[in-house]
Amino acid sequence: MRAKRCYILACLFIGGMAINLNAQKSVPIMVNVDKPKAEIKPTMWGIFFEDINFAADGGIYAELVKNRSFEFYKPRTGWKIDVTSKDSSHFVILNRRLLNETNPRFARVTIKDGTGKLSITNSGFRGMGIKQNVRYNFSILVSLPVESGIVLRVELITENGEKIGETSLTPKGKDWKKYDASFVASKSDPGASLRIWFEGTGVIDFDMVSLFPGDTWKGRSNGLRADLVQLLADMKPGFIRFPGGCIVEGYDLSTRYQWKKTIGNVEDRKLIVNRWNTEFKHRPAPDYYQSFGLGFYEYFLLAEDIGAEPLPILNCGMACQFNSAEVVPLDQLDPYIQDALDLIEFANGTPESKWGKIRSQMGHPAPFNMKYLGIGNEQWGPQYFERYALFENAIKVRYPNINLVSGTGPQPDDDLFKSAVGSLKNLHPQLVDEHYYRPPKWFRDNASRYDNYDRNSYKIFAGEFAAQSVYTTSPDNKNNWDCALAEAAFMTGLERNADVVNMVSYAPLFAHVDGWQWTPDLIWFDNLKSFGTANYYVQKLFSNNKGTKVLYMLQENNPLAGQHGLYSTAAIDEVSEEIILKVVNTTPDQKSEIIVLQTSRKVSPKASMTVLKSDNPEIFNTIETPEAVIPVSLTFALKDKKFDLSLAPYSLTVMRIKLQK
Ligand code: AHR
Repeated sequence: MRAKRCYILACLFIGGMAINLNAQKSVPIMVNVDKPKAEIKPTMWGIFFEDINFAADGGIYAELVKNRSFEFYKPRTGWKIDVTSKDSSHFVILNRRLLNETNPRFARVTIKDGTGKLSITNSGFRGMGIKQNVRYNFSILVSLPVESGIVLRVELITENGEKIGETSLTPKGKDWKKYDASFVASKSDPGASLRIWFEGTGVIDFDMVSLFPGDTWKGRSNGLRADLVQLLADMKPGFIRFPGGCIVEGYDLSTRYQWKKTIGNVEDRKLIVNRWNTEFKHRPAPDYYQSFGLGFYEYFLLAEDIGAEPLPILNCGMACQFNSAEVVPLDQLDPYIQDALDLIEFANGTPESKWGKIRSQMGHPAPFNMKYLGIGNEQWGPQYFERYALFENAIKVRYPNINLVSGTGPQPDDDLFKSAVGSLKNLHPQLVDEHYYRPPKWFRDNASRYDNYDRNSYKIFAGEFAAQSVYTTSPDNKNNWDCALAEAAFMTGLERNADVVNMVSYAPLFAHVDGWQWTPDLIWFDNLKSFGTANYYVQKLFSNNKGTKVLYMLQENNPLAGQHGLYSTAAIDEVSEEIILKVVNTTPDQKSEIIVLQTSRKVSPKASMTVLKSDNPEIFNTIETPEAVIPVSLTFALKDKKFDLSLAPYSLTVMRIKLQK
């Protein structure tokens, strides 16, 4: 069909004596509503969670005390000990490894001369974010080796030294026992600390010093930061991948993620160093550890809470190939494979089964109904695929319905990737994880990447991606609009190929503004506040406007995949009976297009539109200006199933058009 109208864009550059006349005809864009192209899986747009950038401890895990069990390599990290008397009152760390392998260290305070002489102060994770009028729950494990009259006076202190909360407790007896006390904070402060005074005389042993806000997500004890979970829930994610990322692999195998060590009583979960602790010279984080207070049970619960399919990724017997590249010999891989089989039982087994019983005892008798499992993270080479094969054989025999996810290495198109594609021909994963950390141009240029993928092979899990404004791992990368818009352009191609691409997640997810190692990230936060980046709003717009089937949306019989800087995709939501259109304009120009809906059904003459835009591709949201790029909602009119679409420069426009009975 020829254009009903044409428009001329004319640019005159008089200074250079050059005249650039660019004439362009607008051919209508046809949306075939009645003959959908492919199904869009409910899992299409999801979340990648990794404990990087203080995403877990110091982030979504709401514990405010850092190094609560004195198990950091330097056991006093995070603690300041004040002894005002020069007598023999003192603080020491003791170790009972032979009796307690998972939580060996505890603290002992001895007070010889009464009140107000010794206190210990925890500075939290770069301060504690405290909110006025919120209740705070303090707890501590205590044993009194000899009968003592010691009282613990617990205070919350602002950065300026003001007391904003107080409680006390009096422990009794030799047996280790948990004591709780709570109080309401009288003032907000982003950098508060917790001070404990030891009053009276005697000897006191203690461990697991903990402070949680009462307003965690769903009010759970050992809970999560509600504002951060809310940002995830608002995305309506189809799945959540956890716990990473390279954290699964470890620097070496001793620091790999072992899910069995992250469940059960919190005080029995053995802390290990976080592999991002020393990874980047430019962003060292010597106080970065994994307490596993947020462990696999909590991840499954989080997935359930936000309506996302859980997608755990397990170590495949290989440590990070960018680091130690340690490998478990093939004949010693059984315990790793057993971990995978046991995880399926933990998630899905009956409360009578060995691992299902532990889940049930932790508070969830019903199964989590896990359907997906990743074997290895970003591994590559023959060593990976021969290990993957052993996992696949063992898991498929017992659990044929579990969808397995394999990796393809860190790049989407290098030799390792190509050899991975070759190896995968002899294997049977349901999904294959591809990662793209590339410049914005790559995303714009690759919107057609999946147009020619084999329709009869495995499905794609676009498991990690983010446009890099400088280069991958550069500390100068920004979550700018240029990157976010390039991702949106690329994602139109993912949605258009939803028959091949079944799962998509941006990475990494979270970053603390004062504690990050890797940028860009989807959501940033400080101790009290959090905000979505422009990239977050792109992900959210795609996920919230997913639809159930892809529609053909063609201009001159071709999908819009970069012609004149435009990209588009269309879907139908068969439940709400709406047509959903997404159009990305990556140019600095206002664009005009005609959209024609081809359908035998009636179409509502009024529809809604959400626009995410900025004239400035370099702009990005910050903790001070979190709304520099946010979506704006509008309405628009259609006539005879047609409308003129005006696209703002550098914009993502999402439209929902109601079909009528
Ligand atoms: O997302 C950050 C890191 O990038 C992930 O841990 C890893 O899988 C990838 O290399």
